Amino acid sequence: MKIERIHFEKIDSTNTWGKHHAHSFPRDKMTVVTADVQTEGRGRFQRPWKASPMENITVSFCFFVDENFGIIGNIPQVLSIAAAQTFEAFGLSPKLKWPNDILVSDKKISGILCETVPVENHICIVLGIGVNVNMDFDFLENIDQRATSLRVETGQCFVVNDVLMQLQNCFVQHLQTLFQEGFSPFLPLYKSRFWISPGNEISILDGQSKLEGAFHSIVDDGSINLQLPSGSIKNFHSGSVL
Ligand code: BTN
Repeated sequence: MKIERIHFEKIDSTNTWGKHHAHSFPRDKMTVVTADVQTEGRGRFQRPWKASPMENITVSFCFFVDENFGIIGNIPQVLSIAAAQTFEAFGLSPKLKWPNDILVSDKKISGILCETVPVENHICIVLGIGVNVNMDFDFLENIDQRATSLRVETGQCFVVNDVLMQLQNCFVQHLQTLFQEGFSPFLPLYKSRFWISPGNEISILDGQSKLEGAFHSIVDDGSINLQLPSGSIKNFHSGSVL
């Protein structure tokens, strides 16, 4: 896949910019939008995404799929696998928190926001990922959830663009495989890094409703099954684990 990079020193959000410009992106390429600083970085469920200037990856991978592409939900999961593999190359042991958060030492090191824009008979996928690369303790303490960075976990500083290139290369390869073979080649990669085991109690926020139960299984399509206190099994394709 050919790649075009657009870099901003400062932007509100690479995802917001990608969504606004989706109509002008070349259909046969991936447009990679990066920024040194985001002033209005966004996370899932309208949460803000905070990143210290110049020290983190803030990127949106923008590309097109056919309007009938049936497995859009697997795209961010495949990116989370690529991110985990990238961090493993630095000696870390990341875990994947469903649907697509990446944790190291039980703390969030990376998050993914997948948005879509219909463009004629295609869908532009605007797939944003933030990676805490060189963020230090002081900044991490200002984040309202338990967070960590590559620097804190390894004791080393990284060249942000080098980490991005490794992640991008791995993701682009995986994306080709997803397009050709579907999600099944990724299932073992996803399952082996899953952050919880069957029987662990979790709460899932799905829209307005919060459901508690025991994690039961990962389904072949990447969704998960929760066993409710009544004993019945409920399947989730999206949501947020609290
Ligand atoms: C989450 O964990 O809630 C998702 C975080 C996604 C953050 C990235 S940073 C690059 C892109 N631009 C944004 O505004 N958000 C995503």
